[in-house]
Amino acid sequence: MTVLDILTYPDKFLKKQTKPVENIDGALQTVFDSMATTMYAAPGVGLAAPQVGIGQSFIIYDVAPKEDGHDLHVLVNPKIITSEGEIISENEGCLSVPEFRADVQRAERVLVEGVDRDGNPLRFEAEGLLAIVIQHELDHLNGTLFIDRISALKRQMYKRRVKKEMKQQ
Ligand code: NI
Repeated sequence: MTVLDILTYPDKFLKKQTKPVENIDGALQTVFDSMATTMYAAPGVGLAAPQVGIGQSFIIYDVAPKEDGHDLHVLVNPKIITSEGEIISENEGCLSVPEFRADVQRAERVLVEGVDRDGNPLRFEAEGLLAIVIQHELDHLNGTLFIDRISALKRQMYKRRVKKEMKQQ
């Protein structure tokens, strides 16, 4: 399996809105597998298609505790149907926003619909860490990064740091 390159801020591709997947075929399933390899290698608990340069609506995630082994989920054309409650996602991070973490306000519970890697319809309720990961990854499908959801001051701090690092390269 291939480890794919992960795009990082300020890559403009990460700001793009994705398009729905119209057909799940073997080639796309191979992409799911490569994304899983990439996510586990990073390591991370979620990865959205735009992060590996694919402008389509799908995400993968695995929030299982390490000692339980892998529990990979593929979610194609996901939608949050309802959300309720508030939770602070402490120290949220993103593989596309390296070396930066911040608290983000998220919904506590979400009702999600989509299809799985074989095209079977899915509908489930998520809470806690799973709800946070799903909201974070769905944001990627709409061109939103978690740094777009933090205070302007903290965001500026991060952006200045990235600019400085890019100049030094
Ligand atoms: Ni992310």
